[in-house]
Amino acid sequence: MKISTSAAAPATANVDMLAVAVAKPVALEGAVAELDRALGGTIGRLVKAGEIRGTAGQVTVLHTEGKGVRARRVAVVGLGKRLTADAESVRNAAGAAVRSLAGVRGRTLAFVLDGLPVDAAVAARCAVDGAVIGSYRFDRFKTSKTADRPKPPTGLVLLSQERAAGAAGRRAAVAAEAVNRARDLQHMPPNLLGPEQLAERARAIAAAHPAMRVEVWDEKKIAARGMGAFAAVAQASSRPARLIVLRHTPRSTARAARNVVLGMVGKGLTFDSGGYSLKPATAMTGMKFDMSGAAAVLEASDAIAQLQLPLKFVTVVGATENMIDTNAMRVDDVVTAANGKTIEISNTDAEGRLVLADCLHHARSLGATHMVDLATLTGGVVVALGDYHAGLMGRDQEWIDRIMAAGEAAGEHTWQLPLHETYKRLFRSDIADMANSSTMRMAQAPYAGQFLQEFAGDGAWAHLDIAGTADLARSRGDYVGKGGSGFGVRLLVELAEALCG
Ligand code: BES
Ligand code: MN
Ligand code: ZN
Repeated sequence: MKISTSAAAPATANVDMLAVAVAKPVALEGAVAELDRALGGTIGRLVKAGEIRGTAGQVTVLHTEGKGVRARRVAVVGLGKRLTADAESVRNAAGAAVRSLAGVRGRTLAFVLDGLPVDAAVAARCAVDGAVIGSYRFDRFKTSKTADRPKPPTGLVLLSQERAAGAAGRRAAVAAEAVNRARDLQHMPPNLLGPEQLAERARAIAAAHPAMRVEVWDEKKIAARGMGAFAAVAQASSRPARLIVLRHTPRSTARAARNVVLGMVGKGLTFDSGGYSLKPATAMTGMKFDMSGAAAVLEASDAIAQLQLPLKFVTVVGATENMIDTNAMRVDDVVTAANGKTIEISNTDAEGRLVLADCLHHARSLGATHMVDLATLTGGVVVALGDYHAGLMGRDQEWIDRIMAAGEAAGEHTWQLPLHETYKRLFRSDIADMANSSTMRMAQAPYAGQFLQEFAGDGAWAHLDIAGTADLARSRGDYVGKGGSGFGVRLLVELAEALCG
């Protein structure tokens, strides 16, 4: 989608649909009043009649038929109650506008930023988020006539008098397009996207950026380099595992980030059957999404490099399937992780923490000073937090706070869960240093986080359990819609920007 900015009067925008957002109760002021006059008082009459109320998600489409407004249609979009309207309301309004645009088979949208309840830069990024993320569809495998289906929007014009809007909108577009690429990876079926295909994507990303290098290890090298935990998960799969590393070393780094190497680690299970601790059929559906952490860190890496942020980073993805085979890991096996710790496999379905254990250790050994991992790690976090907040845990409260703040600014919300020595009780093993699961049905997400901490080395580290937020089986009714959400991409890009000061 081409993003442009214009300070011209909304009535002159040459687009298929001109969208203006109104809060409840609706006030006829600013651009709304201007458009109302141009349309001969139609908006005012509809407000008076109670048809336009400003409620969240309400879209009223007016056909202009050449009367005073250049766009063929004006969409009056509800923001919700004036007192509570915020950045998220703007994302939702823009999302509602692009859906309505698709409904009339239009391709270009202009969105009025002035008069929104947030400042111009925030309004610009939220409008872009809503329009780009809100218009996402994955229809690669639909063979019915494409003429029946709406085509994606081609252009978004941000209408604002404020100069800050342009740059903010363009930056947001880089992140939002990366979100949609992550969603493409998420939605790919597991027979067509395996570990090697994730590696291919990483190679393509690296090839596009001179400051980036890629390194991919195969399953033999993973085992040979002592990554016994990762290798144990990988050993059953006929689609061989890949350890993927992207390194970004720009010529200059920001003053604030001189001593920082951001480490981004992603769980890349392209399919999780559970292994011998097999998932029941209903729980196995959707386990192609178990690579959502990998998708997020890869596409965030691409976006950060595209924005040419002066920040060093290292991205590590553990890509494999978790399958059944005579050579699969068994329950009761003991494996040795890359940091030397031994792990008793008490449940083969707790495979994510095994893969991440070795990836975290690897990222640290490559020099990461500040680490964050993203993983669809536990069903427990879905029970605890649902589908709006990702579970955030870690060591170093300042680092955790930065991650939470980045997520809030970016529209990806997190909620902190505790880590505590006491959870170590849950991974005591009779014969190894620790066990990978517990039969106690408690604190699943913190337990997994506490387990990961054993492998995160010294320094700042945080863990995002995105099992509830990465794939939305049902829409939350907001701009994101349903299916893979690309959760984490925007948070990571925002974090990288914040680290640059
Ligand atoms: N990939 C799953 C977690 C998951 C569950 C993601 C639901 C998305 C939706 C993970 O590998 C897993 O199986 N976790 C187990 C751990 C348990 C065996 C200790 C879980 O949460 O049930
Ligand atoms: Mn599992
Ligand atoms: Zn899993």
